[in-house]
Amino acid sequence: MLELLERRRSIRKFTSGVLSDPQVKALVHAGLLAPSAKNRKPVELFFVRDRAVVARLADCRDAGGDALRTVALAVAVTADPAVSDVWEEDASIAATQIFLEAEALGLGCCWIQVRRRPCGEGTAEDAARRMLDIPERLSVLCLLAIGFKDETKEDYDLSKLDQSKVHYR
Ligand SMILES: Cc1cc2nc3c(=O)[nH]c(=O)nc-3n(C[C@H](O)[C@H](O)[C@H](O)COP(=O)(O)O)c2cc1C
Repeated sequence: MLELLERRRSIRKFTSGVLSDPQVKALVHAGLLAPSAKNRKPVELFFVRDRAVVARLADCRDAGGDALRTVALAVAVTADPAVSDVWEEDASIAATQIFLEAEALGLGCCWIQVRRRPCGEGTAEDAARRMLDIPERLSVLCLLAIGFKDETKEDYDLSKLDQSKVHYR
């Protein structure tokens, strides 16, 4: 696991490769396996494989959404705040499990923030909801851009981690 975490980087450039059904299924499983507070399971996932729709999702953000323009798959990670008062935590864990599974599959992934981000005069959340026909009851945390990597980035080096962020008591 630590080796995978050292390797994982945000990828924003992708090839034209298409994800297979088993790859998509593995990502679905990774999301659904996420734990949730009180096991309430407020998270709902929207998988988008139509590249034209995925590319348009980049416009949900004024800036910062470009990874979506050429990627094979977008996953909108949403949750129902009426089901859990800590839906942000639950949705973040589901998103993290999906992007770590993407790395395990040799795919690249980038988290595109939606919650609390603007889109023109409105919000990125409303724009994403409109484009994907996401029901009003669901809040949108992020969009994950997932595809075949078309850039290489350096692995992290354990010896360079900022140990000052860790406190021992
Ligand atoms: C909560 C969160 C929100 C992020 N939002 C965006 C985003 O909107 N657009 C983007 O291109 N990257 C986004 N990222 C990716 C970060 O920029 C990236 O994780 C960070 O720069 C560290 O790089 P690394 O992922 O390669 O380790 C986000 C990451 C997190 C965890």
